[in-house]
Amino acid sequence: MLIARSIAELRQHLAHSQRPAFVPTMGNLHAGHIQLIERARPLGDCTVASIFVNRLQFLPHEDFDSYPRTWEADCAKLQAAGCNLVFAPRETDLYPEPQTVKVHADPALGSILEGEFRPGFFTGVSTVVMKLFTSVFTGKAQGVAVFGKKDYQQLMVIRQMVRQFALPIEVVGVDTCRAEDGLALSSRNGYLSESERTEALHLSLALRALGRDALAAADALATQLPSLEVRAMDGLRQRGWQPDYLTVRRRHDLQAPQAGDPLVVLGAAKLGSTRLIDNFEI
Ligand code: PAF
Repeated sequence: MLIARSIAELRQHLAHSQRPAFVPTMGNLHAGHIQLIERARPLGDCTVASIFVNRLQFLPHEDFDSYPRTWEADCAKLQAAGCNLVFAPRETDLYPEPQTVKVHADPALGSILEGEFRPGFFTGVSTVVMKLFTSVFTGKAQGVAVFGKKDYQQLMVIRQMVRQFALPIEVVGVDTCRAEDGLALSSRNGYLSESERTEALHLSLALRALGRDALAAADALATQLPSLEVRAMDGLRQRGWQPDYLTVRRRHDLQAPQAGDPLVVLGAAKLGSTRLIDNFEI
């Protein structure tokens, strides 16, 4: 497995690839990331993973400094999964000067839900993903990029960016990888204490229950939804959580649904000092 530390090195290693299959990550890899690599492998002629903790997508009070950096373990997992090339730029390689030119997500999508509670998050994500994409795919007729559906809104923001900039990249979304009890795998699960880890499952249970209630409301969905969402958030509050949102949206643009729309239920909530997100298409 090759390792590239700079954009120039990466492009050198990719010189003979016609169709790279790319999995961007921030490291601290778990089985969910490895599933993305395995999905990517047959889709291109060179499987590339990036490991870069992107300062631009963290708010000042968030965990940029403490975000786990587990380089050796990550490389061992990527190698075992058949990854061909790891792009792990230093911050000064990816951002040699302050990154003042940025990609802003469409506010209709990028300023709701995660964007409302983490202002600037999708600008940080879109900017780094665009830069990673231009690093990996410049000069390629076609490429593939693989993202997890765990970050459902992020996947939609990236899809929209790729579509609107006409990037020659196929974006593939992969179902969320879950622990045996159903907890969505996340690098931030490592922050949970033993008792919080047991409790953490209740976010996905609350989302599933909200999804069932939404489907049962059928034609009255639009009128009943606000009270169903309030009830779901109150339920979590009573268990000691601080929910940001638990909500049912139509899948294609994450706006309020009408009867008959394909739906997704999404939530974000803090348990102690750890913020977890999850979602289900229903
Ligand atoms: O999902 C992530 O890990 C990050 O947001 C990404 C896509 C690697 C950009 O930093």
